[in-house]
Amino acid sequence: AQQETDHEEEFSYSLDAENGPAHWGEIKEEWSACGNGEMQSPIDLASQRVSLVRRLGHLNHSYAPANASIVNRGHDIMVRFEGDAGSVSIDGTAYHLRQLHWHAPTEHSVNGRRYDMELHMVHESAHNKAAVIGVFYEIGAHDAFLHKLEPYLEMIAKQPEREEKVGVVDARGARGRASVYYRYVGSLTTPPCTQGVIWTIVKRVRTVSRHQLELLREAVHDEMEKNARPRQEVNSRDITMFWP
Ligand code: MLT
Ligand code: ZN
Repeated sequence: AQQETDHEEEFSYSLDAENGPAHWGEIKEEWSACGNGEMQSPIDLASQRVSLVRRLGHLNHSYAPANASIVNRGHDIMVRFEGDAGSVSIDGTAYHLRQLHWHAPTEHSVNGRRYDMELHMVHESAHNKAAVIGVFYEIGAHDAFLHKLEPYLEMIAKQPEREEKVGVVDARGARGRASVYYRYVGSLTTPPCTQGVIWTIVKRVRTVSRHQLELLREAVHDEMEKNARPRQEVNSRDITMFWP
């Protein structure tokens, strides 16, 4: 059913808006890290700051098909897993896959370059610590994972808070087999911009068709043409990279 909502976004991505990225930290007390945090995301992954660290090891994940819903969050489209979708292991801790969503263009950049889209796979440990895996896409051949979700994207288009069950989703199709990745500690890229998030950014760039990217963009709220936060200061953080 079509639902009318007068959904007002609490924050926006437009640089000159009163609730734009430069002001997120002032909108609510609990969002102050967005303004004064020293370990914020996204960042530019500049070669001269990246060091190779072999002992990071391969990304070990045990993803499994699980029931999911697709949700229009007004600022993005999210797939939320209802069942156990598996986990990724980082430094011996299991981080369970909770949801995934897309940003366009990418939030992280490599040597100043942004790609067309960035997938975020959001994981959580038993102690509520977050780990996000980011995957870059550029326009090209279609993405098989997103392909299965296309009919649902149309169903929830432009209806903030609308959600639909999508049946079983297999996260293995989202990340692919890439093994080279960047690692650094940052934050959520949306308010409350909570810090201490372990970021893993896959170096290999995947492809998405122009049509799919448009479907995603059109599914998000009307006024939202892009949903990428500006890059943040790296400050004294280490950026490492695993290269097998
Ligand atoms: C992030 O990837 O940091 C997000 O956009 C935060 C979220 O999922 O709400
Ligand atoms: Zn995100």
